[in-house]
Amino acid sequence: MIVYRTDVIPDVATARALYADCSLGARRPIDDDARFGAMLAHANLTVTAWDGGTLVGISRSLTDFGFTTYLADLAVRDAWQRHGIGRELIRRTQQAAPQAKIVLLAAPAAVDYYPRVGFRHHASAWLLDPDDALR
Ligand SMILES: CC(C)(COP(=O)(O)OP(=O)(O)OC[C@H]1O[C@@H](n2cnc3c(N)ncnc32)[C@H](O)[C@@H]1OP(=O)(O)O)[C@@H](O)C(=O)NCCC(=O)NCCS
Repeated sequence: MIVYRTDVIPDVATARALYADCSLGARRPIDDDARFGAMLAHANLTVTAWDGGTLVGISRSLTDFGFTTYLADLAVRDAWQRHGIGRELIRRTQQAAPQAKIVLLAAPAAVDYYPRVGFRHHASAWLLDPDDALR
């Protein structure tokens, strides 16, 4: 049985084990304790999925609880994928801030996932990476 929690932020080692066990680990700075720790600490809406004592899924968002929820990371351990955990993590994220729209950038492995579960594509997304010059 999977237990979902919104009242816990996993520590760096626990979260690292989850990210390392799915393709998102290669796309996030999980070996930089300070940076990864900041990501975990400063998200203000974190939904976790637990199988016993094992963290098997996470939805990590920044939300204003009124208008927009930025879903920064959605991850499910490889062996637990395609059992509805990702969908349930998103459902609980939406439920925690019901007036807010969820905005996200899909990782390459998940570009077909979001339309599958109901997201619509938006053509006006804009990025400024940390090293990009602001003109
Ligand atoms: C993407 C991810 C979060 C999906 O979580 P999940 O728990 O495996 O997905 P669910 O079980 O909720 O799947 C819901 C539906 O989407 C389908 N689906 C799952 N992964 C999919 C994918 N990568 N592409 C297309 N469809 C997918 C499922 O088959 C299911 O279909 P159904 O409604 O017909 O049964 C998970 O595969 C993952 O962590 N991937 C690696 C990390 C990653 O890329 N994260 C996204 C970062 S933006």
